[in-house]
Amino acid sequence: MEKDFILILDFGSQYSHLIARRIRDLGVYTLLYHYNDISISYLISKKPKGIILSGGPFSVYKKNSPLISKDIFHINIPIFGVCYGMQLISFLFGGEIKKSKYKEYGKSYLIIDHPNNSLFNGIPNKSIVWMSHFDEVKNVPKEFEIIGHTSSCHIAAFSHTNKNIYAVQFHPEVKNTEYGISMLKNFVFHICKCDSNWKLNNFVQKKINDIKKRVNKKKVVLGFSGGVDSFVTAYIIHKAIGDSLYCIFVDTGLLLKNEKEKVSFLCKKMHFNIKIIDAKNRFLSKLVGIVDPEMKRKVIGEEFIYVFQEESKKIKNVEFLAQGTIYSDVIESSVFSKNLINSSIKSHHNVGGLPKSLMKLKLIEPLKELFKDEVRKIGEKLGLPKEILYRHPFPGPGLSIRIIGEINEKKIFLLKEAEDILLQELKKHNIYKCVNQAFIILLPVRSVGIKGDKRTYEYAAILRVINTEDFMTATFSHLSYDFLEKVSIRITNEVDGINRIAYDITSKPPSTIEWE
Ligand code: XMP
Repeated sequence: MEKDFILILDFGSQYSHLIARRIRDLGVYTLLYHYNDISISYLISKKPKGIILSGGPFSVYKKNSPLISKDIFHINIPIFGVCYGMQLISFLFGGEIKKSKYKEYGKSYLIIDHPNNSLFNGIPNKSIVWMSHFDEVKNVPKEFEIIGHTSSCHIAAFSHTNKNIYAVQFHPEVKNTEYGISMLKNFVFHICKCDSNWKLNNFVQKKINDIKKRVNKKKVVLGFSGGVDSFVTAYIIHKAIGDSLYCIFVDTGLLLKNEKEKVSFLCKKMHFNIKIIDAKNRFLSKLVGIVDPEMKRKVIGEEFIYVFQEESKKIKNVEFLAQGTIYSDVIESSVFSKNLINSSIKSHHNVGGLPKSLMKLKLIEPLKELFKDEVRKIGEKLGLPKEILYRHPFPGPGLSIRIIGEINEKKIFLLKEAEDILLQELKKHNIYKCVNQAFIILLPVRSVGIKGDKRTYEYAAILRVINTEDFMTATFSHLSYDFLEKVSIRITNEVDGINRIAYDITSKPPSTIEWE
């Protein structure tokens, strides 16, 4: 069955992924394309039922700002512009765009001027919307009419008088826009007439059948990290080909406390064919003297590939390499992220190129089309333990980027112990699942303290606990002082070598989630 789908042209907004996810949550498949990656003829050949032009950090009237061909308005596919997308539509139809008097970020009240407009079906005349813009449409182009305004934005929504073209200045995809989901629903179901036929159940069975057919008694290796993506990937491939799947788990020595044992236990339970490689000493010796965070990432990435290659060579007749790539990895490695907006703030997310010898293997990436929450839903349906599915993400370079400056065995030990206490307490108090990532940073700073009757001179550590929807932005979690005190007491009492704890109360931006 062909899936109805909505194509999103990405102009670089931090919220573009969210639009795609929200619509998938409605049961309609979405694909995100960098605005410049797709020609109008290719776009038509993909047969989307609707097109969304995303937001973006540009000004349409500036030189070299991203534009699209006007032909897009003549192919008879409904279009919905969001923020920059709205300004773009207006600009291409000859409307006037100007810098707003005031930059507008945050809450506003939308007043609907045309309650009968299909985009506003079932939505009250006044509701909260979330704005984030510095330009605005000053005059609507001829064929358009204003359908909504706010107190400071005279044209907050408009639509074409006889074509299916709609646009809003605010962000319907963010949760703070009270009826944002209803607007997306109206666009997708009423205007684009999509069927809700994106079903994860069918997806899994289809993947299993495809893999069975494609692999056909050959062997597959998988770099197994113990995270949710690699567990679900392994599960699907294992269902298809059983023990012809070889999972390779590399213990870098930079993992959480008892991680190797936990992974080994769970893999045995699932009957995965797993090879656990103890490469602690190799990694540690390569990291001696390195303080630069990007250098740490590079060294660890390279060493990982060496170890993985050595191990996979030991398995005969391997023809396929499986990876737990998910859709956000694919988008993040796209031209946009590389060249424009998210230009290498940190070189992470495991999307670097593969070495030549591994490139000879054919790739299997069963989760490539899915967002993280969809992977979790599949995992739940397959009956994977919650403990795996709802684990916080853990970075590839592991604890190395949580030890500021030079790494050594002692510091790794201290950090493992301290982080384990934090995670235990979060779970014990039922906070773990309410926050999205929690860890500790070990500073290269020692301070004077007193334990028992003895003066100490030990390391200071930072607690970092954050809430986020997409890890692109985040706020620190507002944990109670009582809880923070409990964790601080436990760590300073139980970990010999840490005598001072502070809580990081910065958000992202301006900080990042990790410290390195
Ligand atoms: P930042 O620190 O960039 O982190 O705000 C955003 C998310 O990415 C994770 N992260 C990494 N993941 N390799 C990874 O696989 C890395 O080098 C890396 N650096 C950061 C971080 O833990 C957070 O979830």
